[in-house]
Amino acid sequence: MLLPIIAYGDSVLRQVARPITPEYPDLNQLIANMLETMYAAHGVGLAAPQIGLSIRLFVIDSRPMFDDDDGNPPPPDAEQGVRRVFINAEMLQNTGKVWAYTEGCLSIPQVREDVKRPSDIVIRYYDEQFNLHEEAFSGMTARVIQHEYDHIEGKLFIDYLSPLKKRLLQRRLERITQGDVSVKYKMRFPPQPRKR
Ligand code: NI
Repeated sequence: MLLPIIAYGDSVLRQVARPITPEYPDLNQLIANMLETMYAAHGVGLAAPQIGLSIRLFVIDSRPMFDDDDGNPPPPDAEQGVRRVFINAEMLQNTGKVWAYTEGCLSIPQVREDVKRPSDIVIRYYDEQFNLHEEAFSGMTARVIQHEYDHIEGKLFIDYLSPLKKRLLQRRLERITQGDVSVKYKMRFPPQPRKR
């Protein structure tokens, strides 16, 4: 089932998400829905806050990042990308060379900006069967994971922009919050303040 994606401006995107247990209701169905929603929107990652749930869950599939032709430099290594489900993730390390890449976010449609992130991470997480992993990732996959991990910490990629860039984006961000944006996937916009 496709889930509506929460638009920028909703407070759920700013909350630090809480851990879950294997007893979380309909977890398998939720994960399946999140993957379906991510693929339908041509995203490479989706975090639970983006579908309105403030829980520490995100999914990624970085494989499409390795066959695009969007003018970005190729990733710094020759990996192929992975599909993963991250539950209760905890970032243990981010190290390595800091590199810039043009990022976007399904919650902030049509905004794409360069973000600098370290190239290597080590992350501890539970997979969809609640098996514990400690795994290292690098390059593009590490970038996608860092972007999604930020979501469960209440952070967005635009937080990394300079004050000037942010100011230049302000009007577009307001329009997104007001639902004044055209997207090919279903979104949910924050309730609008009543006009006085
Ligand atoms: Ni995002």
